[in-house]
Amino acid sequence: MMDQAESLRRLVSQKKGIKKSRVITISGGKGGIGKTCISVNLSLALKKLGYNVTIIDADLGFSNVEIELGVTSKYTLFDVLYNNKMITEVISEGPLGVKYISSGGDFTLIDEGVDLTLFLSNIKILDYYSDFIIIDTGAGLNKVVHQFLQAADEIVLIVTPEPTSIMDAYTLIKHSLVGEKKKINVLINKVKSFEEYRKIYKRFETVVNNYLGVSLNDLGYLEIDEKMTECIIEQTPIVIKYHNGKTAKQLIQIAAKLANQSPPEEPQGLWGIFTKLLKQR
Ligand SMILES: Nc1ncnc2c1ncn2[C@@H]1O[C@H](COP(=O)(O)OP(=O)(O)OP(=O)(O)O)[C@@H](O)[C@H]1O
Ligand SMILES: [Mg+2]
Repeated sequence: MMDQAESLRRLVSQKKGIKKSRVITISGGKGGIGKTCISVNLSLALKKLGYNVTIIDADLGFSNVEIELGVTSKYTLFDVLYNNKMITEVISEGPLGVKYISSGGDFTLIDEGVDLTLFLSNIKILDYYSDFIIIDTGAGLNKVVHQFLQAADEIVLIVTPEPTSIMDAYTLIKHSLVGEKKKINVLINKVKSFEEYRKIYKRFETVVNNYLGVSLNDLGYLEIDEKMTECIIEQTPIVIKYHNGKTAKQLIQIAAKLANQSPPEEPQGLWGIFTKLLKQR
């Protein structure tokens, strides 16, 4: 494993900057709106479409991705920084071969004197392995969420019909994304019908356009599906357990829409994102 990783690392450094993954940060502000559920199922849907996908859990303290994906991990990205772990040692494998990594901490608080070059070359391996890297963030608008929103090229904002969710998503854009040239995709979750989704999306888009001058990209919607909670309890994601169901089909459609839309002109990859984050320390 070590030899393979070592040679891969050399290969990546030779081809400097060639292979960049598309990094997508999933956020939304409010808690319990489906960020983790969608990170996990969207990753699996992208994998089903033939892409290599890595999920990074950036929700510090609560490793919900592990629970919902049904994986466990011993190490985090912080072990790559501080404990000489290779990136290949901190990757766990989930269903369908989706890769999982726990982020482990606040990257703007890294001690001086740590070998960042080695860390960043490990990160480059992830870019090499992955077509998409999905970052699940926690609730609220804390520093880590803000960092990953600011650093990312592409964002998926989860909004539900609850007024508190709409308000939190608005505040999140206002606080972290105004004036940034980023693709902000909006996914309306937990709706009762197509009509409800259209109404909520239009209302949200109008307010964000008018008051913040930010444009949004409509990624679609997911209906309320009780099986979603059942799948979390059973630790088998819905796109696997009910792969022929309506929600799984909607998720595949959303994944296809995301994959088919043009990536940023100059994607920075995870390497670029961490380079940015580490500069802020
Ligand atoms: N479309 C849906 N239909 C029904 N239930 C859903 C749907 N999407 C998410 N849920 C449920 O909402 C709950 C919260 O989901 P999840 O943990 O993904 O939210 P979260 O935004 O990541 O929460 P947190 O802010 O705590 O990280 C779960 O019980 C999940 O089953
Ligand atoms: Mg979560």
